[in-house]
Amino acid sequence: MMISPNGATSDRTPGTMISARDIFKSFGSLHVLRGVSLTLRKGDVTAVIGPSGSGKSTLLRCLNHLEVIDRGTIEIEGESLAAAGAGGASKYVPDAEVRRICRKMGMVFQSFNLFPHMTVLQNIIEAPMTVKGLSRDAAVPKAEELLRKVGLLAKRDNYPARLSGGQKQRVAIARALAMEPDIMLFDEPTSALDPELTGEVLRTMRQLADEHMTMLVVTHEMGFAREVANHLVFMDEGRILEEGTPADVFGAPAHARTREFLAHML
Ligand SMILES: Nc1ncnc2c1ncn2[C@@H]1O[C@H](COP(=O)(O)OP(=O)(O)OP(=O)(O)O)[C@@H](O)[C@H]1O
Ligand SMILES: [Mg+2]
Repeated sequence: MMISPNGATSDRTPGTMISARDIFKSFGSLHVLRGVSLTLRKGDVTAVIGPSGSGKSTLLRCLNHLEVIDRGTIEIEGESLAAAGAGGASKYVPDAEVRRICRKMGMVFQSFNLFPHMTVLQNIIEAPMTVKGLSRDAAVPKAEELLRKVGLLAKRDNYPARLSGGQKQRVAIARALAMEPDIMLFDEPTSALDPELTGEVLRTMRQLADEHMTMLVVTHEMGFAREVANHLVFMDEGRILEEGTPADVFGAPAHARTREFLAHML
């Protein structure tokens, strides 16, 4: 943490991938995020756990600008996305900058969100071609490489409707990776899957973690959080109630709310 000449605090420590400070977000009168601060360092795998409605998805969506924050600051790899503006309200950088900065983050949703009218391959090459301006000849081999990585090269020309949930989610991961993000955000990537299909998706995520991808994962998979994450965050009622290594939080939760939650989950 550094203090800049104008007195604003800024987390420009080398290797800081995401620095969110004192984020507030309301939907009407519903205060969903109530002062959340979070730091992700390069290579961190951070798991976010907490009860339904505690603001986990909203936090992820705020970090990559799917939602606009009311107050607080967000920096991605040292670049300001939203800073404190006049009167305390957050002020975003211009739209083109927002888009450029948010492209550093890939997102995977619970519900896959594949384009149903496109084949697996088309799903993956779409954004690299339209957003990054890659030629088809450049995009296809990269997409095939990613499909090989997630074990689905054979499904290259299938439509999503013909895939299992686990396969869809692995395509969604490949699609996000095709944009070469520095950070991957996952919102309950296995929650829509039958239990026998979660393993293949978690294996793909574990492989990414082994390759030192910086990851922020909202999950109910306590095994994944314990074994793959190096940083565990427990959210409750719009706040981070506690965080630390999974060993510490699972082994000796400091708050009664955390103990209660873990007792239900484990
Ligand atoms: N776009 C929206 N408009 C109004 N309310 C919203 C919106 N998005 C989320 N909320 C509300 O904000 C609260 C937090 O929602 P959020 O989806 O962030 O919780 P969560 O921790 O991800 O829960 P879950 O574990 O069920 O996914 C909930 O009460 C939810 O109904
Ligand atoms: Mg959610």
